[in-house]
Amino acid sequence: MLTGFYWIDISIAVLLPIVWGIAALLGGHLPAARTAHRLRFTAWATLLVLVVAQLFGLVRLGTILGTWAIDPDFAEDRLFVGLPVFLPAALITLVWSMPLIWRLARAAGASRASLDASIRSEAAAPGLIVPIQMTTLGTVIAAWLAFSPPSPPYLDTTVTLVAVLVVLATVRWVWQGRRALSLREGTARPSPRLAVRLIRATSIAVVLVLAFGGWFVWSMEASRLPDRMSMMAAHNVDWGGGPAGAHNHGPGVISVTELTGPRTGEPDHRFTLTAKQATVELSSGTTIAAWTFNGRAPGPELRVRQGDLVEVILINEDIEDGVSIHWHGVDVPNAEDGVAGVTQDAVQPGQTHTYRFVAEDAGTYWYHSHQQSSKQVKKGLFGALIVRPKGYEESAVEEITVVAHGWPDGDRQFGSIATSFGTVDSVDRRAVVPGTKVRLRLINSDSTPMQLALAGTTFQVAAIDGTDLNHPSDLDGESLKLAGGGRYDLTFTMPETLVALSRDGDGPTLLLSRDGNGDVPDIDAGPTFNPSDYGSPAETPFDAGSEFDRAFEMRLGNRIGFYDGQPNLLFTINGEVFPDTPMFMVREGDLVKVTIVNHSSMDHPMHLHGHHLLVLSRNGDEVTGSPWWIDTLNVAPGERYELAFHADNPGVWMDHCHNLDHAAIGMTMHLAYDGVTTPFEVGHDTPNQPE
Ligand code: C2O
Ligand code: CU
Repeated sequence: MLTGFYWIDISIAVLLPIVWGIAALLGGHLPAARTAHRLRFTAWATLLVLVVAQLFGLVRLGTILGTWAIDPDFAEDRLFVGLPVFLPAALITLVWSMPLIWRLARAAGASRASLDASIRSEAAAPGLIVPIQMTTLGTVIAAWLAFSPPSPPYLDTTVTLVAVLVVLATVRWVWQGRRALSLREGTARPSPRLAVRLIRATSIAVVLVLAFGGWFVWSMEASRLPDRMSMMAAHNVDWGGGPAGAHNHGPGVISVTELTGPRTGEPDHRFTLTAKQATVELSSGTTIAAWTFNGRAPGPELRVRQGDLVEVILINEDIEDGVSIHWHGVDVPNAEDGVAGVTQDAVQPGQTHTYRFVAEDAGTYWYHSHQQSSKQVKKGLFGALIVRPKGYEESAVEEITVVAHGWPDGDRQFGSIATSFGTVDSVDRRAVVPGTKVRLRLINSDSTPMQLALAGTTFQVAAIDGTDLNHPSDLDGESLKLAGGGRYDLTFTMPETLVALSRDGDGPTLLLSRDGNGDVPDIDAGPTFNPSDYGSPAETPFDAGSEFDRAFEMRLGNRIGFYDGQPNLLFTINGEVFPDTPMFMVREGDLVKVTIVNHSSMDHPMHLHGHHLLVLSRNGDEVTGSPWWIDTLNVAPGERYELAFHADNPGVWMDHCHNLDHAAIGMTMHLAYDGVTTPFEVGHDTPNQPE
């Protein structure tokens, strides 16, 4: 609904200046009419275009008010800034300029003789033309604002823009008044000839283009990232309404490098992951020039047990720009978080790095490189990490891990040449004995949300982002929208007949049957599963009624702009891209509330490292089902979520959109604990490009 309004609004916003511009050109031409006959014709034409222009304005007003009615938050910038820049002038046009033109058209007569000086002066009346020109200018500004919405508070922007417009209008008015007067007195220079007008218009256009070009180049240069910078240099520090600390200065400041997992002791599991280039073959025969862990992509599935001490030795064989490993969804100590430039330096070819952490929470997780992650994850540097609960019995459940991925076309940033479950990009057939309990662990390693449908059995969503749900009820035919980076565990008892899991309707299929044969059935995707009223409530350590020490807001938006010297459609957090995005500051022990609102036209799977967040409400409705814990939440256009977390894991943590292409153009920020600092840096002159 909101997205529909959004696109109508954008289109009208672009059309408005065009229509108003035509009206301004015609109206401006009135005093130059050679004869009364011509004047009358131009006046009627102007009036006609103005009627159309006003109608367009009305439609824009309607879309803005409509959006406002559905959700005030989403139309705020348009209502408070976008309308004031053109609507008053349009109204003045309606009540003043249009009647003037009407009278002029009626009074002009049909004479083909040269025009009377008094009529010519009337045609040049400031009240006739200036409001039209000012509306035109206003609609140009409004169109720009539609693409680059200002952030609140709006009053400053509105006052500044309106003040500038009023000054311009006054100057224009005085100038035009003098011209009308001199026309009446016959002292005016005759209207210039067409050639002169053309030259004039061209020079104005050239000046405008040069000014725009200058602004363009300047903004582009200004957006370049520093060659090296520390996260701690963040200038947009947000204490969330709680007491401010010294940030990372003063005594007692500790480095992220001290916040390690257990450095000694024999690990329960020791894995070695070697990052290297290798060719990966999908089931259809398609080959991928992949970047792999141990020659495979997805990398090996790591299985551990809750409470185990896990040691992972990362070796970089030949990934030129370096690699790292982030344990997505696992609340590891900060130094083990694997973010290049924040918790470590990227591991260069020939180097190694050892991660050690205790797997505290059971669940479905995944790991991936967090160096140039938008490129490296796509090319294959990821895998599943399964933490089984303490009392887990190996034989009781048939566990199937499904890592869904879209494989890139070489180094091209967008699009994929194949989507797969693991390396199967067609049908993955497996034999499962009827009566067996099945647990599908679904992981979306893509950037975009994935639509999944499970046919042939009722099922439960047993876990979201690794955390089990309380009393999940049976679902039948519901489809699942899984966030980029998110996980769902589905459980069911294998029936006598086929069970099929399909992706996006036309993607790969997982087919379970008694003998491992069978044809893919028709699967129609039902309504989308909504976690907010699923399962039963249960005790949580805090809830919507808790007292929060800090409250933060993340407003996700779109804007045309520049990132690191490149023009782009930017995805912003509170109107900014990295490094101007806010740094949320907390103290250990704080109870923190985060409100996320998506004003943009795209899904954003928001991911906070190192913490689990409890969803309190979705679009204003409190969560009534099972406690819903997440680490990656898909926030669709127009959605609003309230989340809460306990600041119990000191460090400097990334908080970013897991559409990694969005993160790579600045949709990223950090959560930092007061008194923690990092020695690592990001930038072109460092080994680290986390996104
Ligand atoms: Cu899955 Cu910051 O990452
Ligand atoms: Cu995004």
